[in-house]
Amino acid sequence: MYPERPAGIAYGGDYNPEQWPREVHEEDVALMREAGVNLVSLGMFSWALMEPEEGRHEFGWLDEIVDRLHAAGIAVDLATPTAAPPAWFTARHPDTLPVGRDGVRIGFGGRQNACSSAPAFREATARLVRALATHYRGHPAVVMWHVHNEYGAPLGECYCEHSVAAWRDWLRHTYRDLAELNDAWGTAFWGQRYTDWAQIDAPRHNHTAVNPAQRLDFARFSDGQHREHYALQRDILREITPGVPVTTNFAGTVNCKSTDLWQWARELDVVANDHYLKAEQPDNHIDLAMSADLARSVAGGEPWMLMEHSAGAVNWQPRNLAKRPGEMRRNSLAHVARGSDSVLFFQFRASRFGAEKFHSAMVPHAGAGSTQWREIVELGADLRRLAGVRGSRVRADVALVWDWESYWALELDWRPSVDLRFRERADAFYEALWREHVTIDFVHPSADMSRYRVVVAPSAYLLTDASAKNLHRYVEAGGNLLVSYFSGIVDEHDTIHPGAYPGALREVLGLSIEEFHPLREHETVAVTGGLDGRIWSERIHPAGAVAERAFASGPDAGHPALTRHDLGAGTAWYLATAPVTGLRELLAGVLDRAGVSRPRGLPDTLELVRRGHHLFLINHGDEPVTVEGVTGTGVFDGAHHDGPVTVAAGAVTVVEEQSPHP
Ligand code: GAL
Repeated sequence: MYPERPAGIAYGGDYNPEQWPREVHEEDVALMREAGVNLVSLGMFSWALMEPEEGRHEFGWLDEIVDRLHAAGIAVDLATPTAAPPAWFTARHPDTLPVGRDGVRIGFGGRQNACSSAPAFREATARLVRALATHYRGHPAVVMWHVHNEYGAPLGECYCEHSVAAWRDWLRHTYRDLAELNDAWGTAFWGQRYTDWAQIDAPRHNHTAVNPAQRLDFARFSDGQHREHYALQRDILREITPGVPVTTNFAGTVNCKSTDLWQWARELDVVANDHYLKAEQPDNHIDLAMSADLARSVAGGEPWMLMEHSAGAVNWQPRNLAKRPGEMRRNSLAHVARGSDSVLFFQFRASRFGAEKFHSAMVPHAGAGSTQWREIVELGADLRRLAGVRGSRVRADVALVWDWESYWALELDWRPSVDLRFRERADAFYEALWREHVTIDFVHPSADMSRYRVVVAPSAYLLTDASAKNLHRYVEAGGNLLVSYFSGIVDEHDTIHPGAYPGALREVLGLSIEEFHPLREHETVAVTGGLDGRIWSERIHPAGAVAERAFASGPDAGHPALTRHDLGAGTAWYLATAPVTGLRELLAGVLDRAGVSRPRGLPDTLELVRRGHHLFLINHGDEPVTVEGVTGTGVFDGAHHDGPVTVAAGAVTVVEEQSPHP
């Protein structure tokens, strides 16, 4: 259920007028109108103002702002302010302050400073949300609810007494009895057998590795506690203001490790995502594309909302580079190209005080005379021209398998190599496909994959039997699956599938692995066909698969490095190392065999994405790029195209195509 208003693409951002006097509020609204802002998120961190003392609610100050915005035709995404409980609350309930894995309880002065399991926090949340919803019921400005802020970031797991009590309840619901738990956690190892639920603690900091199955369950539990805190609010909002969509903003690819967004997305009326560039990383627009594709994928392909990004620099990275001219526009339009129906920023006006005063905003400290503001106004005009994009879908022929449980499990202690990181492989494959101009969906390993020509599983370390069967069925029915090393190793309890590696995937890949041979730091091994590998080598024994390439040096010289297994109507590929270079070419071969069509001969500085009838051409490079064979009308300049289109360096062209791509 996407909010009905504003029409077209929503434009605006977090608005924190409580930091400014009334004169500035008036100027704010005038500036918003100048830029075409049509949606702002209000009240995110305003609990202390909404409830200055327990049970006394003050919404008058907010009414004035909401009414002023409404009079100016600006819609409101009203936030529940639970990400920042007030000082009086913490002073009265110090037990709600979260405790870290190291046993240290955090203090007041930051934010996200309450444990989602703490009863006093849940009670106070419910009371406030009920009062807020009742007060704003039927207000025409309020078009959606924004619950909390970025659950799980930075507060993923809490180790306080309330969490431990809830954890024991969760375990009692998850396992039939202690025998089942002991079995699932493999407590026969290191003599950890439990004889009473009360003996089970959170997997706290230890001087050695802690039971990995216990840690994995704690990650599931902790994520679920935040979801319960969200659902508590959502249910109250739905009861009091039915029909008003409810969301919470995800922390993009930057800080999303602790939240299983496949599960979260099901609980939201509309998916909302935040993304911040890694300022110093070259080609950081690829991570942006990945974040946007992930948001669209967890939304089930439905349009989603870019709830936050930055107009310029952030203030929390080691070196906070300002965006170059045109970069903010390219970033914003890339999100729209990949399915967002909004372009929203943190925040509207830069703060003079507090922790984020060096963070950019739509209105910077330099004011409306700045280049930044000019770009913001121009972007508003661009987005009005893009109104017809709203609601349209992005189609992908290739999918990447992404599973948070596998992410968590893979990165627990004592793996065969510290270089085994979930994002390391996921990013490598995503980047290679991005450079091939292929649009990617992400899929859970249990999802129906039949619509994809190619599915890549870069880091599917944890794979249940059911998911492995799903992949098997996909291949047999004609799919093309490419699996990277250290996949299909353990089940949902981090227990190794029986027999030789990769237990869950032996059959579909047509091979077994006798031994892992992780490489030393910086060590590389040669692979036939002109490819060097790093991080990983292993001894493969084909059993149905054929070796397409072999290791030419290192511990597995002479043995397969890339295999192909023709199975039913499809093919399963397996790659046993991390290519230093050449992954893109290798993938291109798989894509070609699978008949994945994509533009040829374009530089990898050009981002090309189709959304509905619109072709987005985003030039991240310093040279103009010409794309052949484009027929349609330029959305920004109205130009008619029938043939080559040249996109200037750093520019974005969007063409409404006449004969939409099949
Ligand atoms: C986000 C957060 C915002 C703001 C922003 C700064 O993670 O939701 O409130 O802090 O970062 O980049």
